[in-house]
Amino acid sequence: MKIEKLSLVYFSPTSTTGIVLEEIARGLGQESPMILDITRPDVRNQVAPVFENDVVLIGAPVYSGRVSKDAAEYLKTIKGSGSLAIVVVVYGNREFEDALLELKNIAVDSGFVVLAGGAFIGEHSFSDTEFSIAPNRPDEDDLEEAFLFGQKIASMLEGLERPEDILGVEVPGNFPYKDGMANGAFSFIDVTEDCDNCGICTAACPKEAIDEANGYLTIDERCIFCCACIKACPQQARIMKAGPMKNKAKWLSENCAQRKEPQTYLGLVNK
Ligand SMILES: Cc1cc2nc3c(=O)[nH]c(=O)nc-3n(C[C@H](O)[C@H](O)[C@H](O)COP(=O)(O)O)c2cc1C
Ligand code: SF4
Ligand code: SF4
Repeated sequence: MKIEKLSLVYFSPTSTTGIVLEEIARGLGQESPMILDITRPDVRNQVAPVFENDVVLIGAPVYSGRVSKDAAEYLKTIKGSGSLAIVVVVYGNREFEDALLELKNIAVDSGFVVLAGGAFIGEHSFSDTEFSIAPNRPDEDDLEEAFLFGQKIASMLEGLERPEDILGVEVPGNFPYKDGMANGAFSFIDVTEDCDNCGICTAACPKEAIDEANGYLTIDERCIFCCACIKACPQQARIMKAGPMKNKAKWLSENCAQRKEPQTYLGLVNK
């Protein structure tokens, strides 16, 4: 089987998921796949596509051991129509827990046949110069793993006559899933006087949660703590304030310092 059309669908506020998926695509021998980046809210508000006879690489970050909610909600509305999917979660070197299983199940329920899955590591959203957590990942070694994963999938497909011969992939995780992020707003970002009103944070926010008319303050009820605005701010004017999130970042930097490696899973085929 040859890949006729490869599509990438991902949610990636701080870009690590997108980077990993694009490298897997290169390993699959596809330099210019169709990319549906669902990070922006206006994209998620459009009608989701129907895929037919495609291979679709689906990616989302892990939030509290689960697929990030905004990604999950959107992905439940796309239609696979029997297309093949590769599911990938990217996590910040703590654990991915039930996220990969959840993403696989979402893809199956949306009508995909899932032929492979992977969990890769990206710099933690809460990581900064004070408390670094998996800084600069995915790094060269991660990207090589991503490329090789793509190559392995490509050779698996080459040996296949028909998509019906794919029996699906087993990935780790438990069902019922663990509880995800608790709902509830709290304020965790300060905007300092270094802010020059450039608006870059607003463009980076996946939740329209920044109030331009009010000193670029965060609208806490909408915020998902993704930290895209903090990482995007060229003036370092958006900072995590002292409190539970900062404490969590400190805890993660102390307790999740040991490097984790990407894990990949290939499906079984009927020979
Ligand atoms: C609210 C929230 C919860 C997170 N929960 C986890 C987690 O349970 N385990 C983990 O290892 N990383 C966790 N992370 C880190 C992200 O999974 C990681 O930084 C990922 O690379 C972000 O993907 P992106 O760059 O595509 O946005 C969390 C990040 C956020 C914002
Ligand atoms: S990106 Fe930074 S400097 Fe620009 S508006 Fe936002 S907070 Fe202000
Ligand atoms: S305001 Fe909240 S949701 Fe928007 S980018 Fe910042 S952390 Fe993410």
